[in-house]
Amino acid sequence: MKIFAYGIRDDEKPSLEDWKSAHPEVEVDYTQELLTPETAALAKGSDSAVVYQQLDYSRETLAALAENGVTNLSLRNVGTDNIDFDAAKAFNFNVSNVPVYSPNAIAEHAAIQVSALLSQAKVMENKVQKRDLRWEPTIRREVRDQVVGVVGTGHIGRVFMQIMQGFGAKVIAYDVYRNAELEKTGVYVDTLDELLAQSDIVSLHIPHIPGTNDQMINAETIAKMKDDAVLVNVSRGLLVDTDAVVAALDSKKLFGFVMDTYEGEVGVFNKDWSVNGLDDKRLDDLISRENVFVTPHTAFYTTHAVKEMVHQSFDAAVAFAKGETPSIAVKY
Ligand code: COI
Repeated sequence: MKIFAYGIRDDEKPSLEDWKSAHPEVEVDYTQELLTPETAALAKGSDSAVVYQQLDYSRETLAALAENGVTNLSLRNVGTDNIDFDAAKAFNFNVSNVPVYSPNAIAEHAAIQVSALLSQAKVMENKVQKRDLRWEPTIRREVRDQVVGVVGTGHIGRVFMQIMQGFGAKVIAYDVYRNAELEKTGVYVDTLDELLAQSDIVSLHIPHIPGTNDQMINAETIAKMKDDAVLVNVSRGLLVDTDAVVAALDSKKLFGFVMDTYEGEVGVFNKDWSVNGLDDKRLDDLISRENVFVTPHTAFYTTHAVKEMVHQSFDAAVAFAKGETPSIAVKY
């Protein structure tokens, strides 16, 4: 049995080596390059391909992989919004993802960034660097005084809620699919509008479903939020109309913005722009604001998560190769 993996980074290699030692019967080959129509031929002769989300898995890419005899595709990440599922169906692809690799990685990152934003950490750090050691006017907002509205109560949303509750915040939640245990605690509100109207912090923990929730945070929904609210998006860039957020930051409707995902991130994040400068002027402007905390889609990026992503995706690739359906197969 042979598995071919695309986009293997140096930080993934130790986890890959662990997995290989535990599976000596499986031949594994890999490249640092991402899966594209041009690189699809590298997987020829393999039973399954393992990839992670950076580029779109378009019809063209899937067709190229299928032409090379590979129709088992295991993602090392959770998001499947960049897969052309019509094409995947047409070429009979089996697809798996890793729905739960480390909810804590993402929830913790959101919590850390929110606390830093409420503490005006960038403002204070910039002052300290200039040796301006005055207190005023850089006063902090305590997390326990906030109402935290969590949109999406899956694994990540629930860990985020626990962390915020640990700080003493009042947490409310909205989800189309309610969690039975959570329901008993009375945290759910009935509508997104109610959550927006009551929350000091609105944090998104939902997948992006193209054609369904694109730019669900926009000028209209932002207008329904409390003045001085904080918006947190560690989910998907396409959930947020960034121009509307910029306008709300300019008008001071929003106190701040935590942004780990960005609608224009493909081809921009995970690249070094330090020498030539960033072409995306809107992103450049957001990064330089003291009340905006931008990270380049790294909420997931922990040692714990990376290990799970590699191990679970390779296990699923083996299952597909054996003609089995892994528990993390994507039903589409
Ligand atoms: C995911 O798991 O879907 C993520 O957002 C992280 C990733 C793109 C590697």
